[in-house]
Amino acid sequence: MSPAPVTTDYLAHIKPLKAAAAAQTTETKDLQAIAAGHLTKGTGRLREHVFVEGKGINVWTSDGRRLLDFSSGIGVTSLGHAHPDVTAAIAAQAAKIVHVQCAIANSQPQLQLIKQLLPMMPDASLDTFFFWNSGGEANEAAIKVARCFSKRQNLIVMQGSYHGRSMGAASLTRSKTIYFEGTGPLLTSVFATPFPYWHAMGFPKDTPSDVLVSHAVKHLENLLQQQTAPKDTAAIFIEPVLGEGGYIQAPPAYMQALRRICDQHGILLIADEVQAGFYRTGTPFAIQHTGVRPDIMVFAKGVANGMPLSGIVTRKEIMDVMPPMSLGGTYAGNAVACAAGVATTKYMATHDIAGNVNARAEQARKGLMAIADGPGGSIIEEVRVTGLMMAIEFKDPRDAGSEAFPAGLNKMVQDACLDKGLLTLTMSIYSTLRMIPALIVSEEEIDQMLAIFGQCVRDVAAKVGAK
Ligand SMILES: Cc1ncc(COP(=O)(O)O)c(C=O)c1O
Repeated sequence: MSPAPVTTDYLAHIKPLKAAAAAQTTETKDLQAIAAGHLTKGTGRLREHVFVEGKGINVWTSDGRRLLDFSSGIGVTSLGHAHPDVTAAIAAQAAKIVHVQCAIANSQPQLQLIKQLLPMMPDASLDTFFFWNSGGEANEAAIKVARCFSKRQNLIVMQGSYHGRSMGAASLTRSKTIYFEGTGPLLTSVFATPFPYWHAMGFPKDTPSDVLVSHAVKHLENLLQQQTAPKDTAAIFIEPVLGEGGYIQAPPAYMQALRRICDQHGILLIADEVQAGFYRTGTPFAIQHTGVRPDIMVFAKGVANGMPLSGIVTRKEIMDVMPPMSLGGTYAGNAVACAAGVATTKYMATHDIAGNVNARAEQARKGLMAIADGPGGSIIEEVRVTGLMMAIEFKDPRDAGSEAFPAGLNKMVQDACLDKGLLTLTMSIYSTLRMIPALIVSEEEIDQMLAIFGQCVRDVAAKVGAK
């Protein structure tokens, strides 16, 4: 391989323009003014802070604040910000070649990444890949492949699911209407079935899992008899851990029932592992907790530690129905992103990430339960910890003995945490806060999180007058 060029002689014929570009501002208030004046509000923003640096679990803002990042950019920086191996791989690849368009040539890192990923697959039948940039795009690809292979149109999704915001992926999404409100019509042939989650099904919190599962399966069987005939149904999409919908792990019995129903009717089972994949729950993919084989698996986020990279993987016989040029995109499987993916997955394959995830999850679960059982814990409805996907669902404060009804306890606690330097996320239509730190989080950092979160729960409970 030839070394990176050390001179810029090859650019000598490109003449600089006379008027030099204005120096870029680094002042926080100037940067914020640009955002306020010229950047869409359509993304929403937790605060108008500007992140300038990250290392491990820490990020620093342009005005010098250090935050403990328990969001990891929504589960993306799986090995922590600026992981040295990933940074080195990005720099090395950027110095060689950045863009190799997938319909023109293969890039080395893309093929090396496949070699890394094959042994991680939940089933050896998952052996043929297509890479794209975002999780939503990968779900778009999964829709196309499922429809082309099955020659059927209809799709079944879970109530509370989140699969992305582009039009096809938004059509699969059932966690909140805000993701598509006012933008329809979406795909019409998408049908929702309940996910076994007590709150969304209107059952008491202590409802046994087998009761939830049997109701959910019954609904699905009815759906296949009343709304979408099996012969018209291409695929069932499921997040093995419901993400945006509240961090609820699909019970193995439910996944096994889905597999049975799919096999019975020739329907494809599609696991969206965009958020739960790449050791987030202690195994390479969350579906591995259930013993179920998906027909298509969708991945993104944790695979490349912050570089935009996603993909789908399926059996060769399924992928091979796709005619040349039917899948792709200018940036699909970008070489630098794939190089980051190779470094990320190599680190995962050679370090005990699973051991750390399991130990830190248990530490967090115990600490969060203690907070829920302690002073101010009356505002907490439920603590759910699946690996390093942690959810704290809050109660209607009136049920917690408050006379007031401040909406959004999750938002109040999130704001209080941020004021104290802990970055968390909210989710779900049920007032829920989530924490999803990098998988390399330390025991000490979990303790720091618990100290801040516990204090904020007590403060908010006192503020709303909860008993
Ligand atoms: C389960 C799941 N699927 C799909 C997506 C969409 O991914 P992206 O935002 O990269 O389009 C997300 C994003 O949070 C997700 O959690």
